[in-house]
Amino acid sequence: MIKAIKGTRDILPPESAVWSQVERAAREVLHLYGFSEIRTPIFESTELFARGVGEDTDIVSKEMYTFGDRDSRSLTLRPEGTAPVVRAFIEHQLHRNSQILKLYYMGPMFRRERPQRGRSRQFHQLGVEVLGSDHPAIEAEVIELLQLFLSRLEIRETELLVNSIGCNCCRPQFLKELQTELAMKKAQLCQDCNRRSETNPLRVLDCKVDSCQSVIESLPSILEFLDEACRQHFDQFLSYLQSRDIDFRVVPRLVRGLDYYMRTTFEIVSPGLGAQNTLVGGGRYDGLAEILGGDATKGFGFALGLERIILLCRQDGHPSVSISPQLFLAPLGERAFNKATLMAREFRHQEVYCFLDFIPRTLKSAMRLANKLAAEYLLIIGDDELRSGKYPLKRMRDGAQIVVIEAEVLSRLRSVWED
Ligand code: HAM
Repeated sequence: MIKAIKGTRDILPPESAVWSQVERAAREVLHLYGFSEIRTPIFESTELFARGVGEDTDIVSKEMYTFGDRDSRSLTLRPEGTAPVVRAFIEHQLHRNSQILKLYYMGPMFRRERPQRGRSRQFHQLGVEVLGSDHPAIEAEVIELLQLFLSRLEIRETELLVNSIGCNCCRPQFLKELQTELAMKKAQLCQDCNRRSETNPLRVLDCKVDSCQSVIESLPSILEFLDEACRQHFDQFLSYLQSRDIDFRVVPRLVRGLDYYMRTTFEIVSPGLGAQNTLVGGGRYDGLAEILGGDATKGFGFALGLERIILLCRQDGHPSVSISPQLFLAPLGERAFNKATLMAREFRHQEVYCFLDFIPRTLKSAMRLANKLAAEYLLIIGDDELRSGKYPLKRMRDGAQIVVIEAEVLSRLRSVWED
């Protein structure tokens, strides 16, 4: 048997209906906040992520699905969406269209991580990127949008963690200090951290190895090194959150696992998710467009793991998904079946979710199936009914039955039971 590749999975009905509902809720909220959809390719040149996300990140150094094309170009299945969006922004000169551009995307991403609950190798993100503003109010607005989305899905047990990781002016001072500290604690750190303390010391704060955690806790806090402009930006961001009554916790070690961030970083975590408890990750990335060869452009965004959202929805039993037919057609015999196929067409064109079975059944067996599917009504179509043009319409909930002519079925469905 050929099976799905480890770390990937099929999304089957009825779970796929939960996905559709979550996606629909997301689009509704995003449109309220003025976001337009962008769809970028699933694979890009490897260089985009190496430069954009950073050579020394886990994503680029360990987790990418990279392969040579037939013309020996190096391609990579996208591990995230921000670098592709900024690439498209530069390539299509989207800055010409408006002052501030609000884009969103939904789709699969690929990282070769060890699969576990809430972590897979093909996973799906809903991402949002705001290009062209460095106002802290837009950051709070994006978080407000996220909260509205989560509340519409009735996901409540979450915590917002925020931090500022400064900018190219103030961060070097912090990194110098960090390097000095790390050099003294070499023996207590893992191999990766020792390498990173030389190449990219900020990444050490992001290390997940247990034995490194006590060292990481003892390291200096970046917040003490913010310059005046970064400090003001962060304070304003926090006050915009406060004025919206959005609760948060400042976590000075929150540097995120991608190199393009500067100033504001944030995550939304949920205890219901277990070990992989980060639902959303995001932040500001004002330098990314330049790194990718474009003009300096301010950027802020986040991505949310859809698998993790679905896990929470399923745990809470939300959102409720109705896949039950409104009308179950029960034809008895071949002539009746042919008539039922045409009726089904008519009802569907009239927006009725109508179920027609393709296996010949007795009335008893049709009733059993209609019950199993939790159909609201059942229409009996037998030879007598075809002759008389009158059909018994049964309400499954309580077995109440009336007789209707074909032209009346729809209006009866909609009105008679309210009497
Ligand atoms: P990220 O933190 O790498 O950020 O990923 C964002 C979210 O994607 C995570 O919080 C998690 O919910 C989900 N996720 C990541 N890896 C996996 C996985 N292996 N399996 C399941 N879910 C996963 C980014 O990707 C940035 N591009 C976010 C961003 C957008 N920053 C600014 N704009």
